[in-house]
Amino acid sequence: MWFEECVLHIGAEATVSAGTWLGRRAVLKKREPRAYRHPDLDRRLTRQRMNVEARVLSRLQKSGFAAPSLLDIDVEEGWMLLSRIEGRPLFEALRDDSAGLVEVKEFGGLIRRLHESGVSHGDLTTHNVMIDETGAMSLIDFGLSRIAPEIEHLGLDLQVLNECLTASHHQHQGAVDAMLDGYRSADSGAEPSAAEVIERFDVIRSRVRYHS
Ligand SMILES: Nc1ncnc2c1ncn2[C@@H]1O[C@H](COP(=O)(O)OP(=O)(O)OP(=O)(O)O)[C@@H](O)[C@H]1O
Ligand SMILES: [Mg+2]
Repeated sequence: MWFEECVLHIGAEATVSAGTWLGRRAVLKKREPRAYRHPDLDRRLTRQRMNVEARVLSRLQKSGFAAPSLLDIDVEEGWMLLSRIEGRPLFEALRDDSAGLVEVKEFGGLIRRLHESGVSHGDLTTHNVMIDETGAMSLIDFGLSRIAPEIEHLGLDLQVLNECLTASHHQHQGAVDAMLDGYRSADSGAEPSAAEVIERFDVIRSRVRYHS
C-alpha cells in the first residue's frame, strides 16, 4: 500500500517520490523510459541497473551499512520502494556551509567502509550522500555500483568525488585532502588497502590531468 506525498526529484534516469508504505516513511524510485535510447537498450539498461542496485542494497543491509533498505521491487515495471533517508544531500549542506571539512572527512570514511564491504559506488558525488540534522550520513543511488570491484573502480570512485569537490565545492578549501584523510583513517585491514586505492587514484588523477 503506497501513499504518495510529493515528488522529491525528477532526474535524467529516475523520478523519486516520497510517501508511506504500510505506514512506513518510504520513497518510490521509478525509472522512466528514455526517448533518446533505443527501447530494447533502454529496457536492458533499466533492468541491469535496478538489479545491481537491489543486490547492493541487500548486501549493505546485511552488513549494517548506512544506506536505504529495499522494501519492494518490480524490475519489469521499473520501480523500487526504499526506506526514506532523513535529511538532505551533502551537496546542499556544503553549499550553505552547514557542513564542512569535518563532514567531508567522515564521508571519506564512509566510502572506505563501502569499499571494504566489497562494493564500488560508480557515481560518487555529493548528491548521492544524505546528511541528517545530527550529521549522520547515508549513501544512496547504487545503480552504477559493482560487487567485487577491481582496484580501478575503487580509484575511480575517489576520482569522481575529487572532480565533484573541485568543481562544485571549491569554497571548501582542502576538501579533497579531508576526504582522503577520512578514507585512510577508516582502513581496517581489508584488501586492497586504503593506501593502495589512493595510489591508484593518484595515477588516475594524473592521467586525467595529462589528457586535459
Ligand atoms: N531513500 C531515499 N530517501 C530519501 N531521499 C531519497 C532516497 N533515494 C533518493 N532520494 C532523493 O532523490 C534523489 C535522486 O535519487 P537517486 O540519486 O537514487 O536517483 P538518480 O539515479 O540519481 O536519478 P538521476 O540519475 O535521474 O538524477 C536523491 O538525490 C535524493 O534527494
Ligand atoms: Mg543520484
